[in-house]
Amino acid sequence: MHETKKGYNETVSSSSSTLVQIKKLQIQYTVRTGLFRKTPLYAVNDVTLNIPQGETTALVGESGSGKTTLGKATLRLLDPVAGTLLFDGKDITKTSQSKLKPFRRRAQEIFQDPYASINPSMTIFQSIEEPLLIHDVGDSSERRRLVYEALNDVRLTPPDLIGSSYPHSLSGGQRQRVSIARSIVLRPDYIVADEAISMVDASSRMEIINLLKNLQHIHGITFLYITHDIATAQHFADKIAVMYMGKIVELGTPKQIVQNPLHPYTQGLIAAIPEPDPNNRFHERPVVTGDPPDPLSLPNGCLFNPRCLKKLGPTCEMAIPILEVTENNHAVACHLYPNASPNDPNHIT
Ligand SMILES: Nc1ncnc2c1ncn2[C@@H]1O[C@H](COP(=O)(O)OP(=O)(O)OP(=O)(O)O)[C@@H](O)[C@H]1O
Ligand SMILES: [Mg+2]
Repeated sequence: MHETKKGYNETVSSSSSTLVQIKKLQIQYTVRTGLFRKTPLYAVNDVTLNIPQGETTALVGESGSGKTTLGKATLRLLDPVAGTLLFDGKDITKTSQSKLKPFRRRAQEIFQDPYASINPSMTIFQSIEEPLLIHDVGDSSERRRLVYEALNDVRLTPPDLIGSSYPHSLSGGQRQRVSIARSIVLRPDYIVADEAISMVDASSRMEIINLLKNLQHIHGITFLYITHDIATAQHFADKIAVMYMGKIVELGTPKQIVQNPLHPYTQGLIAAIPEPDPNNRFHERPVVTGDPPDPLSLPNGCLFNPRCLKKLGPTCEMAIPILEVTENNHAVACHLYPNASPNDPNHIT
């Protein structure tokens, strides 16, 4: 089908408050599919997204949708095959690793596994001091001050006692606080928190989210929060981007995404959120059924069409829907919304 309208991808532009600007980004892995055959797998495909300064943008979606790949790409831990990546207005798409050191200081990651991300043979103090040594920050007393400040920030006190202990003596929640302290000790502007609470026990999860929110409030950190859990995304994020098979299929505020999901895929994800109140355990919308397609053999048209309960027929099977704005900056890539239109680009964030 011939596309005449321009979508979000074409119209989006950054405002002065955009810290990370992703434009038509494509990340490809090469997968061996035979003895002598390699096939490209597009884990991130034509993604455009602005991550505003001092806010949290959440990336949600099923396993394999490309969330981690996109997060790592924004940290330049993966090299794009197409598109551009701007950080604080500077194009870093092709900047060499040796020239990325100043960027690395400003952009950090909180890992999923607090057990794997901290060296068990180092004291907590040494673990948190390490990034300062790598980036050659301060003398030993300045570094001590910064490490203690980071420990105080993540509420691991008293810092001298915690600092001299080893990871094995800490709980999972405390270890995750250590990895957060490690990621904030350089006072970064941007943090990718990839499933940062999924391995922490349920009782500590909200504490960690509130801690991240508080750090954002104090230090103005911009977060890309990657999660399967829309409930915590709703609590932490200013914007939620829903990913499916390497593409953003819907983008909106938590209220828009949770209370008025437009894309049938998002509607399924929302319907699948466990409802604690038995009186409310009635969903008008069915959950997403079936499995995602093989990423090496994607369907034509809308990538969601084989699983979609609201499929319109040939349009959905032939034409790739583009991300377009419906109203109030709520964007969706779905043929059910033919009247969606590209909005005033200056209003899209
Ligand atoms: N190193 C790799 N080599 C080849 N393919 C990869 C590699 N890493 C990821 N993939 C593939 O890229 C796609 C996106 O993976 P990715 O890990 O980004 O998804 P995700 O949304 O983070 O999933 P999850 O929720 O399970 O963490 C998947 O099809 C995955 O199998
Ligand atoms: Mg992942």
